[in-house]
Amino acid sequence: MTLLKAVRGTRDLLPPETELWDRVETTARRVFARYNFGEIRTPIFEDTSLFSRSVGEETDIVSKEMYTWEDRARAQSEKSQSLTLRPENTAGVVRAYIEHKLGESGLLQKLCYIGPQFRRERPQKGRYRQFWQIGAEVIGPPSAGSESPLRDAEVLEMLASFLDELGINGWTLVLNSVGSSTDRPKYIAALREALKDKAPQMCADCQRRAETNPLRVLDCKVPEDQPIIETLPKIADFLDDASKAHFAAVLAALDACGVRYEINPRLVRGLDYYTRTTFEFTHGGLGAQNALLGGGRYDGLSEMLGGPRAPGIGFAMGLDRLILTLQAAQAESAPTLADAFVAPLGESLNADALALARELRRKGLQIELGDGGFRLKKSFEIGNKLARNIVLLGEDEQRSGILTVKHFATGEQTKIPRAELAQALRNS
Ligand code: HAM
Repeated sequence: MTLLKAVRGTRDLLPPETELWDRVETTARRVFARYNFGEIRTPIFEDTSLFSRSVGEETDIVSKEMYTWEDRARAQSEKSQSLTLRPENTAGVVRAYIEHKLGESGLLQKLCYIGPQFRRERPQKGRYRQFWQIGAEVIGPPSAGSESPLRDAEVLEMLASFLDELGINGWTLVLNSVGSSTDRPKYIAALREALKDKAPQMCADCQRRAETNPLRVLDCKVPEDQPIIETLPKIADFLDDASKAHFAAVLAALDACGVRYEINPRLVRGLDYYTRTTFEFTHGGLGAQNALLGGGRYDGLSEMLGGPRAPGIGFAMGLDRLILTLQAAQAESAPTLADAFVAPLGESLNADALALARELRRKGLQIELGDGGFRLKKSFEIGNKLARNIVLLGEDEQRSGILTVKHFATGEQTKIPRAELAQALRNS
């Protein structure tokens, strides 16, 4: 019988790695809460047209990577419907914003999310078909200040604080402005013109996109096309005064709070809904898939989906990539060990050992419990792998209430009264 395995591009997350996942999620919730974000949970699948209308028909995500199926009607009252596993969460959040009329409060909505996303990409290090994002969106009516460059800078400053607090060093914030909905058509016309001569020398995807959506030519990863892409017009030369002023104000606010950045005039990002500020935080340790997170402003997205005017800005971080970065840092430091391994000396002491472990755990210690069926040597071997100390519970210890404790690193063995044990282990 062939053994079943996790599907290509998906994987199981096992301890101790899951502890890291928990740490990242807890840190994100703590940092985001300081900025008053509330959590939103949207469905894992949505109507396919939500993504084609927002992310864009011509993007890689919609044209090649979505998990889409025709959901058959089960009753006469239902219609069959094309559904898609969400490849990203911004479209779902904006759909929910419109559906629940969240703009009617007149206030900015600050919504964050954690959850799996699905893209049929070619799996490699840091790139999976089911991957996790932690993201946030700030969206609202213009009267609530949703168009202000201060929102962009505040989100970027929050991200810098989050990465610092998580202990990720060596990140780079890369920024660009892709202009407003009036700048973009002028730039796209210029790109289309420039590509008339150049596209025939480029890959098949670029040749098609030169016609259908020239901006997407800039996403091309084919190495031979890169020198040609370098010669194409730059968006910065097509920004109107308002877009230039917006970008300058974002940079000034970042300078004021000391957040470092680089400007990359080619950062257009692979989704169609962006306007003005786009950004990524990259990390050198990740290899080819070096974007820890990406985001930007989407001032027209709500209207593209039939909603009210509701400018917004947001980001999503690849949780899988944050974990890879933390693991690389952790590999250089010592593994985390439990406070103690409690070893009963004989099966008749198993129940008492469980009671002792419970007592210590309730005082907040991390305890591994052995088994009285193990020989002493085996208890020492296992304990040494899992914990900083071993606590021996034999007949004598049980009777006298004085435990024998050995600290593995120093080899020191001491006798400690049960009442003082938790404190001694904590300090060890
Ligand atoms: P995105 O750049 O497509 O943007 O994805 C954001 C992040 O998700 C990437 O920087 C990367 O860390 C991670 N990611 C993407 N694809 C994969 C994959 N196949 N495997 C592992 N990690 C991956 C968005 O999704 C936008 N919704 C972000 C946004 C929010 N913009 C405005 N608001």
